[in-house]
Amino acid sequence: MINMKECYLNGDYVDLANARISVLDRGFIFGEGVYEVIGVHSRKPFALSLHLNRLDHNLSEMGLSNPLSSESWSSLISTLISRNQCVFGTIYIQVTRGDAPRNHEFPESSCPTVFAMLSESKSKNELEKVVAITAEDERWKGCHIKTTSLFANTRLRNLAANQGAAEAILIHNGYLTEGASSSVFIVSKGGAIYTPPLGSNILPGITREVVIQLSSSMGVPVIEEKIVISRLRSANEIWLTNTSFGIRCVSVLDGGVVGDGHHYEVAKRFHKQLSIEKGIIL
Ligand code: PDD
Repeated sequence: MINMKECYLNGDYVDLANARISVLDRGFIFGEGVYEVIGVHSRKPFALSLHLNRLDHNLSEMGLSNPLSSESWSSLISTLISRNQCVFGTIYIQVTRGDAPRNHEFPESSCPTVFAMLSESKSKNELEKVVAITAEDERWKGCHIKTTSLFANTRLRNLAANQGAAEAILIHNGYLTEGASSSVFIVSKGGAIYTPPLGSNILPGITREVVIQLSSSMGVPVIEEKIVISRLRSANEIWLTNTSFGIRCVSVLDGGVVGDGHHYEVAKRFHKQLSIEKGIIL
């Protein structure tokens, strides 16, 4: 991922290197902000209305009214894409409560900080296979909120990286929740697809939602059900999904091979269908 030059900050388009916020911003001091990551494919944002709805919910979780209308968000995003001439990549949006004297209590009034930047990436055609580990889910009880307070997630992801793995798959009380930065699906030996149900312990992933929608039209509806760790370990396929990479297969989990280690046929079909949805020609 390469950060692109021009970003948006509080109404202006500025060079990323020159973008400045106050050190008293509550996003900086308390990690008090929410964010979105939106895919850009062939110069267009993917699943934009789902992302903007999630952002709106997250802002209300913070007690903030949305600083921009849907139309303004859409035009901001189109402007960023065209000013940076981006074809493939991701848009990162962050809204914090803004600048205020340091105090744990929310300030009576503050002006939210609104930031957006683009990162360029290459469109990948191949279904990627990665190594993952399992780890205890040590995060807080508000994982459904897409908050910028991500230290538990970054710590878990680094735990994985230090063991040569691309992702940490999180386990809470013996059950799968999600990855440190991805949603998780499994395919059973019989070919059925499962993912944990939504709740305060997982983020409502947009790619998860799109995959679930696709699954009905593809005739293999995803079953939303609690998944005990033994079912994760005996799965034929384990998928990670997120906006940045779409669908990836886990070929090795905690040192054990998943399925036959190579042929993840159900994932291949979904990867292809998702690429078609995004307008990517395979
Ligand atoms: N993260 N769960 C967690 C904890 C995540 O951080 C993410 C994505 C997802 C998948 O959500 P979506 O399909 O909407 O991308 C699930 C993004 C990509 C990030 O933090 O960069």
